[in-house]
Amino acid sequence: MCTGSISGSSATLKLSTNGLLGSGPDCYREVDLWEGIRSSRITGYQKQSALGMAQFHFTPDDYLELMHREVPLYVELQEKTAEATAEVAVRRLLELGTGTGETARRVLALHPQATLVGIDASPQMLAAANLPEADLRHGRIENPLPLGPFDLVFSCLAVHHLDGEGKRDLFRRVAAITNFFVLADVIVPQDPSDAVTPIEPGFDKPDRLDDQLRWLREASFTAQPTWLRGDLAVIKAWRK
Ligand SMILES: C[S@@+](CC[C@H](N)C(=O)[O-])C[C@H]1O[C@@H](n2cnc3c(N)ncnc32)[C@H](O)[C@@H]1O
Repeated sequence: MCTGSISGSSATLKLSTNGLLGSGPDCYREVDLWEGIRSSRITGYQKQSALGMAQFHFTPDDYLELMHREVPLYVELQEKTAEATAEVAVRRLLELGTGTGETARRVLALHPQATLVGIDASPQMLAAANLPEADLRHGRIENPLPLGPFDLVFSCLAVHHLDGEGKRDLFRRVAAITNFFVLADVIVPQDPSDAVTPIEPGFDKPDRLDDQLRWLREASFTAQPTWLRGDLAVIKAWRK
């Protein structure tokens, strides 16, 4: 999702035929990097990434615009993520990959008494999050997680940046600090024609839903999807 890639020394950028960065050999054509930037077809995050300024990082300025473009069901995904947290009264929350706070605000709206710890690899994204009450920490989810227990751990569109073994390890570490985990993310769909979210090899590492459910169960959660559309899923996982 949403990275540019420079190929060779001639600085070309892979651009999908609809003008968006994408994946899959037949949606790419190579354009001259500078021509793309001059013509404004390569903007914001993509331009910074292509220029090596922010390779593999999100930037807050055009984040929402980018999400709406690349994930047509972005708003519904956010709402379904929050909805999956609704049935349990929770006070202490941890979010993995808070970004600019789009998921956190929706979850906190359902749990106004709760306090949030949010971690993210990007200080720029956290700085734009506008969550004045939250304890926002710059950190990577591959590293030790904040000290639990938490009544709820949730994550939307962040865990797919880990590979399969990374996800498995994360699920074990999440199980050690909570009994309730909501995971929303891009997945590898059963039907390849459902793979519509642009995937950048090496940066986006989605896995199949059944693998992730198995890894959650191995980590001692009971897990089931609560919403599934194409290559997007919301999974609820809990422990007795
Ligand atoms: C697509 S955004 C999702 C943000 C928010 N949950 C939403 O749905 O709008 C992904 C966020 O995860 C963060 N991220 C990516 N890989 C990460 C990692 N390994 N550890 C911590 N944060 C990471 C990025 O910096 C980015 O802010």
